[in-house]
Formats: sequence, C-alpha cells, structure tokens
Amino acid sequence: MAEDLARFLSDNDARIRDELFALLRIPSVSARSEHKGDMARTAEWVRDSLSSLGFETVIHQTKGHPIVVGEWRKAAGAPTVLIYGHYDVQPAEPLELWTSPPFEPTVRDGKIFARGSVDDKGQFFLHIKAVEAHLKTRGTLPVNIVFLIEGEEEIGSEHLAEFVSVHRETLKADAVVISDSTMYAEGQPSILSSLRGLAYFEINVQGPAGDLHSGIYGGAVVNPATALAQIIATFHDESGKVAIDGFYDAVRDWEPEIRAQMRELPADDAAFLKEVGASALGGEPGYTTLEKLWTRPTCEVNGLLSGYTGEGAKTVLPARAMAKVSCRLVPDQKPGDVERLFKAHVARVAPKGVTVTCEHLHGGRPWKAKLEGPIYDAARTALESAFGKAPVITGEGGSIPVVSDFEETLNAPVLLVGFGLPGENAHAPDEWMSEENFRVGMRAMAEMWDHYAAAVKQ
Ligand code: BES
Ligand code: ZN
Repeated sequence: MAEDLARFLSDNDARIRDELFALLRIPSVSARSEHKGDMARTAEWVRDSLSSLGFETVIHQTKGHPIVVGEWRKAAGAPTVLIYGHYDVQPAEPLELWTSPPFEPTVRDGKIFARGSVDDKGQFFLHIKAVEAHLKTRGTLPVNIVFLIEGEEEIGSEHLAEFVSVHRETLKADAVVISDSTMYAEGQPSILSSLRGLAYFEINVQGPAGDLHSGIYGGAVVNPATALAQIIATFHDESGKVAIDGFYDAVRDWEPEIRAQMRELPADDAAFLKEVGASALGGEPGYTTLEKLWTRPTCEVNGLLSGYTGEGAKTVLPARAMAKVSCRLVPDQKPGDVERLFKAHVARVAPKGVTVTCEHLHGGRPWKAKLEGPIYDAARTALESAFGKAPVITGEGGSIPVVSDFEETLNAPVLLVGFGLPGENAHAPDEWMSEENFRVGMRAMAEMWDHYAAAVKQ
C-alpha cells in the first residue's frame, strides 16, 4: 500500500470534495442545446484542473461539444496510459422526483446525490485526484498520462471515433483506462469484461394532416397511435425473443470459461426485482438474468408520444405518433447491419393509410475484453490492496460507444474499472455515488500506477 499517496488523499479529503461539488454544480447536459454554454464551461473547468497539475492541455472544438485533452509525459522510458471519461450528463428530468436538486450536490447516508455524480464526473475526477496525489507527494508520476475527457458520451460520442483516428499519434498509449461503470456489489471491486453496443432509432407515424375530432372522423381514418402500437408489437414474439428477421444471425456465444465465471457470481432474482421495483422478470427465455443483461441483444422502446396526455379526457384522433427505440447489441452484431435489418422490418410491418419514417439517431459497437496483460495485473493488485478483496470479472448491459475504437485505432488494451454501485440511479432521479467508493477508488487508482510501471519494467 502506498502510504504517502493514501495520506495525501485523506489529508486533502475536504478540499477534493469541494472541487468535485463545483464540477457537479455545472449542468452539463449534452442533449440540450440550451446547455451549450455550460458544456463549454465544464470543458474549461476540466482543462483548468489538469493544467494546475502541470498537464499540457488543449480544448478541441468539434461540431458538437468540446473534447479536453491533457498530457503529462515526463516519465521517460515508462509506459503511457490514456484515461478516458465524459463530462456530459443525462438530462435531469423529471425534476420533481429528485429529493434534492440535481445540480446541488448533497450528501445523505454516505451518498453524494447529483446528476453526473457517478456517471461520469465523480469517476473521471477521482483519476485526476489520484494523479494529483503522485505529483504533489513525489513531484512526479511513474507512468506518462494522457487524459481525454469528452462531452458527447451520453448522446452517442458522434465525433470521438474520428477524433481518436485523426489524433492517433498524440493519443498513442500502451493501455486505456476507463472508470464509467459499476462494481458488482458494495465492497466488491470489479473489472468489466464486456459492454453492449447500441443502435438507436426514432420512428414517426404521420396520419391525417392535423388532429381530428375522434367522433366526427374516428373509424374512417387510420389512427397513427394505433398504427405505431401495431408496429411496436411486432418487435418481439410471444416468448420475448426479438422478432426482427436476421437480428440474432451475428450473435456469438460467450466462451464457456467466462460463462462459468459469471455463474459463480452470487445472483439473486428476488433482490434484482426489489432493486428495480418490478413484480416479475421478463425477456428472452432460456437465459439467467445476468446472461440476459450482459450477453444477449435487446430491442426496447425508450419513449412514446402521441395524442392527448393531459388531465381529464379529450376526444381526439392524433395526427402523428412518435417512438424512440433502441437495440442493445452483443458481439459480433454490427450497428450498421442492425440499422438495415430494423429499417427493413419497420417498412415491412408499417400499416397502410399512414406514412411511417424511421431514422437512425446513433450507434456504437459492442465490446469484449481480452483481460490480459500488465494493466490487468496492476488493476487486480491495486484493487485488492485498496478494497481488501480481490476483484471479480463482470459484464455490463450498458454501452460506451468509443471503447472498440480505442482498442482498434490505438491498438491498446482497454481496462474498465468502475466505482459505481447497484441502485445508483444513473440516468434517473436521485443519481448518487458512494463517498466511500470515491475515496477508495482514488486510492486504488493512485496505487495502480506504481504497480503498472513495475509490471511493464519486468
Ligand atoms: N456509464 C454509462 C454506461 C455504463 C453504465 C457502463 C453502467 C457500464 C455500467 C454511460 O455513460 C452510458 O450511459 N452510456 C449510454 C451510451 C449511449 C447513450 C450511446 C448508454 O449505455 O445508454
Ligand atoms: Zn457514463
């Protein structure tokens, strides 16, 4: 255990928390144009926090939100690590469901409540402070570090793959480290072995030119809300499998060793139901809950809009209906192939009498780790030392679109080590990050650089 680093972090605990809170107070919602100024302000905040540690920093403008890159390369002969994170957050609505306002960080019960606390501001910021511990106690770092903190992850990282490709020389690294995921359970450090990919669609159904009186016209005109419901009802068969032609063709079975490791994790469907507050499980038959979440593709309706949804009754035949639908993908499904299959399916099942359009909004490839090499060895040692427990290997149902691009473009292994916890309410009201995980995570990541430098030297 690196006592000097741990002491620095505990001596500076209050100041570090104040800094994190300042970052959490900026409403950096990437999806909303009214937050464009907040996005720029957050990028500057991240840049300044890296510059103040001696990093050479640049804010790169994109067609969307800026990307912050900070480089520290004074460890001659030592390996280079790229640390990726995202400073953008999901919209906070519905605001009335938050116990305390989303952009006023508040601690209750050892949890830091704020939009972005765990996804991902708290998690990338703990890396910045882990690096600070080295620089302020020893005046140096055992490895070279490049931070790449983007502002478009929550909207699909549209400009990042190209950015990584164009700047591949600057970003060149021996390993990529990302903390933007969760631990399997409290006190149980975890290394993530997979992410699902994504293909996200918007379907619009146009019926009559304008809203109509449902008594005067209803019965003789095709109702777009009903047409949309009919389309959506064709996405799954009765058993719960996705019924889009060809959808499962590229799905690869998980290796038996990884499945065996997964089956060793304590899993409890009753606890899962309690966590989500649902009364029954759903989905594809023949798979355990963890297998459904981590190893199988899905097709989910994310939002629906049509007709009158206000108080009381209004007799109206709506002119249009809209749905947001996303498919989560697993190796080796390709977002482009799923886009073609999905659009062909919607066109085939579209009812007559309405105009149906289907637009692909964004996508990302699935990812699977090789789980080998010095960065993984260093992570295992550092996590065990900081948490007092060896890490487990987990999978994940969520997506981080750029991970496969990092691996391919930079030809470097990616380590995903997250410090969120089950029930953290990412993307939902009352998002929180555990204070304890923030602190222990900082210590673990600070210590990891010593182990990594030593492992590479051997
Ligand atoms: N941090 C999440 C993804 C995640 C969650 C990974 C839990 C591992 C464990 C990330 O910020 C996220 O939410 N990504 C989006 C990506 C999408 C908008 C392209 C997602 O998965 O919905
Ligand atoms: Zn995230």
